Amino acid sequence: MKDTALRIADFKDSIFGVISRLARENNAVNLGQGFPDFDGPEWLKEVAFRKMQEGHNQYAPFQGIVGLRQEVSNYYKKFYSLNYNPESEITITVGATEAIYVVITALINPGDEVIVLEPFYDSYVASIKMAGGIPVPVTMHAPDFTIDRQELEKAITPKTKLLILNNPHNPTGKVWAKEELLDVASIAQKHDLYLMSDEVYEFLLFDGAKHIPTATLDGMLERTITVSSAGKTFGLTGWKIGWICANEKVTRACRLVHQYVTFAVSTPMQEAVAEGLTKLSDYLPGFVSLYKGKRDLFYTEMKNLGFEFAIPKGTYFMMVPISKKTDLKDVDYAMKLIQERKVATVPPSAFYLKSTEGEKYLRFCFAKKDETLRAAAKNLQGL
Ligand SMILES: Cc1ncc(COP(=O)(O)O)c(C=O)c1O
Repeated sequence: MKDTALRIADFKDSIFGVISRLARENNAVNLGQGFPDFDGPEWLKEVAFRKMQEGHNQYAPFQGIVGLRQEVSNYYKKFYSLNYNPESEITITVGATEAIYVVITALINPGDEVIVLEPFYDSYVASIKMAGGIPVPVTMHAPDFTIDRQELEKAITPKTKLLILNNPHNPTGKVWAKEELLDVASIAQKHDLYLMSDEVYEFLLFDGAKHIPTATLDGMLERTITVSSAGKTFGLTGWKIGWICANEKVTRACRLVHQYVTFAVSTPMQEAVAEGLTKLSDYLPGFVSLYKGKRDLFYTEMKNLGFEFAIPKGTYFMMVPISKKTDLKDVDYAMKLIQERKVATVPPSAFYLKSTEGEKYLRFCFAKKDETLRAAAKNLQGL
């Protein structure tokens, strides 16, 4: 039989799938993959059920149902004073993952270079490669995961077309400060780059941290493509409802791709998320305090186990330094913890192309029941 496509020749099984399989095989407490081990809000599940009963079950319009595009537009206006026209600037996708694929496919020609800030969410690089583009890594240096402006400038060539930024940031839990964002934004402007801003953790913020959408920065609205989704915000990652907010030209290009990738997105789930977004202001305080409780609990447990690191201000991840505990690299230490301690984590070197800084960390996801977090800490006792 002939070979499969060259464009995927160097793809491997995603680290999340590998870790989840090993966690199952070893009967380990799974703090690896980034999703809650508890259900999302009952009221929103009831809305979805009602929407199905009301007959919202056939194909949706390919760009997304009007009601959801309108509610996405409303929340950007209400929370960030951003004006996106639901008719021409918002597209609904199958989660942020499809949004990322669509944006990259819509913008990138073979040979175009894309700056990815590492550690990165792994689908960026895969999508860039599928488009024939070239991922160019720039490292966010530990321990604060900051960018060196000169390094970033040096990575840009006449072929650079897009820069991808994730804020709040997976896997580090970093919430970007305004000055840092302005630095990156000024470089995007200077070199006339598009900037894709992945903001799926936009509402998962602690200790007064503030989310600054890249599109709100001076002069950035036109060149920023914002990607987000309902999965993390409503704790229903399996619903896979996401969106792209971009100028008319880019939106049109994204829709041309999206119509041939998935065409339409689940109708009743779009209906439910549209209703869910109308209740964001009432819902968010409880949501944030639930996750803050989990962050505080697990941080305290990790401190008691002798791990030292700054408490994350956003997302539901902790990037935990391991060098005081072991000489092993992250992948080997993660394997050891799964097999010997029955705790699954993600080795972050999978999120780097260039730097080896990730080898000195493990990523823990604390979006888990308190009992799961305590069970993990108990298994790690005496490390
Ligand atoms: C940074 C980042 N972007 C995108 C996604 C994918 O989001 P979705 O589940 O909406 O496809 C994730 C999921 O873990 C993520 O962490």
